[in-house]
Amino acid sequence: MNILLLGSGGREHALSWKLKQSPLCEKLYIAPGNAGTSECGVNIPLRIDGDFEAMEQFCRDHAVQLIIVGPEDPLVKGVYDYFEEAHAKNPFAEGWVGVIGPSKYAAQLEGSKSFAKAFMERHNIPTASYKEFTDVNFDEGREYLMNHALPVVLKADGLAAGKGVIICNNHLEAVAEFDMMIHQHKFGDAGKRVVIEQFLNGIEMSLFVLTDGKNYCILPEAKDYKRIGEGDTGLNTGGMGAVSPVPFADDVFMTKVEERIVKPTINGFHSEGMVYKGFVFIGLIKVDNEPYVIEYNCRMGDPETEVVIPRLQNDLVELMVATAKAEIDTVTIEQDPRFAVTVVAVSGGYPGDYIKGYEITGLDQSNTDSIIFHAGTKTENEAVVSNGGRVLAVTSFGNNASDAVAKSKGLLEGIRFMKMYYRNDIGYEFAETN
Ligand code: AMP
Ligand code: GLY
Repeated sequence: MNILLLGSGGREHALSWKLKQSPLCEKLYIAPGNAGTSECGVNIPLRIDGDFEAMEQFCRDHAVQLIIVGPEDPLVKGVYDYFEEAHAKNPFAEGWVGVIGPSKYAAQLEGSKSFAKAFMERHNIPTASYKEFTDVNFDEGREYLMNHALPVVLKADGLAAGKGVIICNNHLEAVAEFDMMIHQHKFGDAGKRVVIEQFLNGIEMSLFVLTDGKNYCILPEAKDYKRIGEGDTGLNTGGMGAVSPVPFADDVFMTKVEERIVKPTINGFHSEGMVYKGFVFIGLIKVDNEPYVIEYNCRMGDPETEVVIPRLQNDLVELMVATAKAEIDTVTIEQDPRFAVTVVAVSGGYPGDYIKGYEITGLDQSNTDSIIFHAGTKTENEAVVSNGGRVLAVTSFGNNASDAVAKSKGLLEGIRFMKMYYRNDIGYEFAETN
């Protein structure tokens, strides 16, 4: 099968690493990819941010049969629908399987917080209580905020590059933020509508579900580390590391999650006729042993993929085909029982300003329990150079979290690029867990 994978981060390196292990994978193309994905397939310099015509031409010219979408942006812009319609008008290559991802309508679960909250409300899925406001009912919103318990959470409705959530500890600050979103366009159009919600106090984890819109299977869960500093301090990032499994996600808790959240979510897709053939990332929070949904994303997480995919023992191409053909009920997920931990190495200054283009050395090291995934890298004059904030994600297996982290850190000590930084404490709360 000829496969096109969209994206260029650590998530896409992990996916391409796994795809190329499948005997079903013939040609693997990654658009645009990074220096790591070029070891697994062929990188193609295609734009994936909304101009789907060039992608369509590429697929026709190279007999692509399966498209797997890594990031949310093409999904929210309707890549699934574009290819479905193009295929209906003029069929793609023989053996065309489809696009892995939700339809544009269903991708609003990530693209619009208000859409996601209303969906959860309709299906009685536990989540923080909320109300939404725009310019039209701004005064009512201010009143609502002034009377809200603290802390209070403000969310820009649309995609805001992971920055659209603000947690406020006092009412005046909350009203000022609300005003900046609605009247001063702090997040552009994404903040024209604001969801104001109850603050939930608990511990978060990421759940990944693969669905064909009717049936589902649950993939290994993970926990990511969002803050730049050790001990979960400092600014939010795209993710500085991840662990899987999550020790607090025990059987009792996961049964509650499946019954109260996963089943109603997938049944909701089905009963509302939402077309969804892909990954659902459910951001969960455990509050007094009860699960709540913080958010839905319509894709895999990054860096969670770098621990989830190595633990997945199924053939990923088989899973993708079962998803596209609505046969996911025939699949049994097999997981590696060991702990996987990934530690992300970033450019100094990230998540603020940083410099790209530094040569990376030490990438040729290996050990049987570790994999070096590339995130922001590219090849320049035969050298691998940094090309983003998050540069590498070094994943290792171990019998417990500390053992796995020690192996990743061992490799990172031999890797160098100017101003490289990584957290030393990924998995710290699970250090003693076996
Ligand atoms: P989101 O963009 O929805 O993923 O939100 C970013 C982060 O904000 C989440 O991962 C949580 O850490 C935090 N957050 C969002 N909503 C809430 C909430 N209702 N209560 C507590 N924390 C929240
Ligand atoms: N690691 C969180 C995300 O991918 O959104």
